[in-house]
Amino acid sequence: MLFKHRHILGTRQLSADDITLILDTAERFREINLREIKKVPVLRGKTVINLFYEASTRTRTSFEIAEKRLSADAINITASASSVVKGETLADTARNLEAMRPDVIVVRHAASGAAEYLSRKLSSCAIINAGDGAHEHPSQALLDALTIRRHKGRVAGLEVAIIGDIAHSRVVRSNLYALTALGARVRLCGPGTMMPSAMEQLGARLCCSMEEALEGADVVMMLRIQRERQGRTLLPSLREYSRFYGLDNKKLRLAKADALVMHPGPMNRGVEISSEVGDGAQSVILDQVENGVAVRMALLYLVGAPAPNEEG
Ligand code: CP
Repeated sequence: MLFKHRHILGTRQLSADDITLILDTAERFREINLREIKKVPVLRGKTVINLFYEASTRTRTSFEIAEKRLSADAINITASASSVVKGETLADTARNLEAMRPDVIVVRHAASGAAEYLSRKLSSCAIINAGDGAHEHPSQALLDALTIRRHKGRVAGLEVAIIGDIAHSRVVRSNLYALTALGARVRLCGPGTMMPSAMEQLGARLCCSMEEALEGADVVMMLRIQRERQGRTLLPSLREYSRFYGLDNKKLRLAKADALVMHPGPMNRGVEISSEVGDGAQSVILDQVENGVAVRMALLYLVGAPAPNEEG
């Protein structure tokens, strides 16, 4: 099956077949990542720019590792060390970078819609969204789907509880689109100030308590509070938040005995997740990170590899 998308802007644009192709491609790259020599020539001669306007550990590092393992030339730009600090706009920065003829730009930006904006402004390179505001984080949701599929053997029919700051999370939106496309049922739970009712129209079940969200869940995905995207204080105290919305071993027992515990990172230990759970036997949090490299290799390959008549 051919991948029809020029850009990866969100999981909303992806069908179940698209997602399955990405996950199957990632499986093949996972195998390469286990070899002693973790390099293949599929993007040799291609240039990928990682343009990050926001902090990142996992996404940025794994995109760079993915690019290097595919033999692309990887260039990292951090906004705080670029001419952005002299007032250059996103559009001007992108047009100047495009003039240097990259093949792919991976962009993370605080503004929702930034990746799509670049995809409209630039005509000669593919755009991969590495997180845009509270909108989407497609590569995160795809690595989550791969992790679930690897551990459970399927995604269809699973009950997935996503708990935390739903309103400000791009991870939750991308997961909701991807997991429901693959046939999972998604339940959401968080404080009233962080729970937009519009999520119900996207196919999620909204839960009033953490107990309701956890009951019989196959997967429990915890989210951190996105303080950087909150314009005002939405919580009386972290201690109270942790009591009602933090995951510890006692609450985890409400989920299925073999439920997976997931977190996109960075974890705030003792707030949304206890260390005993984050480091516990049901945690697949580091598997998510490992799968992130393979999924990003798959995305770069699918949008960046030369078409058959372009090779040679
Ligand atoms: N999950 C995630 O996006 O982590 P980083 O912010 O460290 O990239």
